[in-house]
Amino acid sequence: MNFSFLPKYYTFFINGAKNTVLLAFFTVALGVVFGVFLALMRISKNKVLNFISTAYVEVIRGTPLLVQIFIIYYGLPAIGINFPSVAFLGSTGEEFVAGIIALSINSGAYVAEIIRSGIQSVDKGQMEAARSLGMPYSMSMKHIIIPQAFKNILPALGNEFIVIIKESSIVSVIGINELMYNANTVRGNTFIPLEPLIVAAGIYFVLTFTLSKLLGIVERRMKVSD
Ligand code: ARG
Repeated sequence: MNFSFLPKYYTFFINGAKNTVLLAFFTVALGVVFGVFLALMRISKNKVLNFISTAYVEVIRGTPLLVQIFIIYYGLPAIGINFPSVAFLGSTGEEFVAGIIALSINSGAYVAEIIRSGIQSVDKGQMEAARSLGMPYSMSMKHIIIPQAFKNILPALGNEFIVIIKESSIVSVIGINELMYNANTVRGNTFIPLEPLIVAAGIYFVLTFTLSKLLGIVERRMKVSD
C-alpha cells in the first residue's frame, strides 16, 4: 500500500468531503421541501394532484439517477434552459446548481414516500377523533397527525441523508469537485490507482457511520416519550 500521496494531497480529500457534505445537506433540505408537497398531494382527495404526485414518484424511482443527472445537466441547456453560475467552495459553475437540482428532484420522490407512509402509519382513529372533536382537517393534521408521524419520518429521513451522501458521488460525472471527483483527480495526478479510492471510501464510511450513530441517539430520545 502506498499512501505517500497524502501529505501533498490531503486537502483534496478534505475539500472533497466538505463539498460532499454540503451537497448532501442542500439536497436533503430541498428534497424535503419537494417531498412534503408531493406527499400532501398524494394523500389529498384531489384526483389530479394525486395523479401528478404518483406519476412523479414512479417515474423518478423508475429511472436511473445517472440518466436524470445527464438530462438535467446536458439536456436542459440544449433546449434553452440554463443554470445560473454560482461560486461554490472554490468552484464556479453551473455544475453545482444542476447537481443539487438533479439530486433533490430524485430525493424528493423518496422523501415523499417516507412522509406519506409516516402519515399513513398514524392510526385512522386519531384523525376521526380529532375531526369528531370539531377540528378542521388542516388543524387535525397539524396538531394531531403530523406530531405522531414525525417519529416514523425522522429516522427514515436521516437514512435518506446517508443514502444521499453516498449517491452524491455520482455527480462527479458532471465535474463537481466532491469527494469522489477529487479522489479521482489524485489518482490521475499521482498514477496511484487504488489507494486514493481507499481513502475516499474511508471518509464516506466515517461520514455515514457518524450520521447513523447520531440518528440512533435521536431515535432513542424519541422513544423515551412513548
Ligand atoms: N442509485 C439509484 C438510482 O440510480 C439512486 C437512488 C437514490 N435513492 C434515494 N433514496 N434518493 O436510481
